[in-house]
Amino acid sequence: MKIVTILGSPHGPRGATGTLLGELVRAATAAGGDVRAFSLTDHKVVPCVGCDACHKTGVCPQKDSFNSLKAAMLEADGIVLASPNYIVSVSAQMKALFDRCCGPIHCQAMHDKYAAAVETSGGTGGEEVQHYMLRFTQWLGCWTVGSVGAMGADLADPMRKGQAFAGAADLGRALVAAIQRKQTFPAQAAARQEFFGRMKSLVQYRKDAWPYEYQHWQSRGWL
Ligand SMILES: Cc1cc2nc3c(=O)[nH]c(=O)nc-3n(C[C@H](O)[C@H](O)[C@H](O)COP(=O)(O)O)c2cc1C
Repeated sequence: MKIVTILGSPHGPRGATGTLLGELVRAATAAGGDVRAFSLTDHKVVPCVGCDACHKTGVCPQKDSFNSLKAAMLEADGIVLASPNYIVSVSAQMKALFDRCCGPIHCQAMHDKYAAAVETSGGTGGEEVQHYMLRFTQWLGCWTVGSVGAMGADLADPMRKGQAFAGAADLGRALVAAIQRKQTFPAQAAARQEFFGRMKSLVQYRKDAWPYEYQHWQSRGWL
């Protein structure tokens, strides 16, 4: 079972978000997950330039780490996104990755895979950031297992830090279990179906302009 983690903090694995993510990774690995960890400090992803090449050809022409990260994501059974709260959103590094995934979203390229999110904040607003990361993965086609977050004050207090770490470990185990059981989440079903239908209409409408995406949907037997 392959799990890919992508960390969007400029502080890398030793920052607050990377530390909390590390607890999830340890637990997921102990539960049988084969975890590949990527940090956007080492794998640069530049912003989308809106050229639409990905929709036409399936490949982004920009020369950076995106295409190899995308391949790792699509090969995985589960994905964990981790970002600090930057002004009630993800870091710019993580947002660049989201925007570059516009083609994979149209293609529902992680259909029926699994996702979780990890976030840390100096203060408040972290839940919105967690929700945003989970929504992105739902747009890729994933079932979302859950998210964890911690504030700076939590991580500075030994007892609250222990609770945050335990929550991250629980999420790691829950992700592995969901993948093993091919779990579905009935509360997510209606929104998934609605978004899938919206992407289907889009690729049909843009059939001539975006042939790669139309052919992808045909090859999956979804048209
Ligand atoms: C540019 C920037 C914006 C931030 N915006 C917020 C914010 O809106 N709300 C908040 O609670 N913390 C905010 N923070 C604090 C970080 O979310 C917090 O320190 C986080 O734990 C850092 O994680 P890291 O060590 O993994 O980078 C911000 C920090 C930076 C550098």
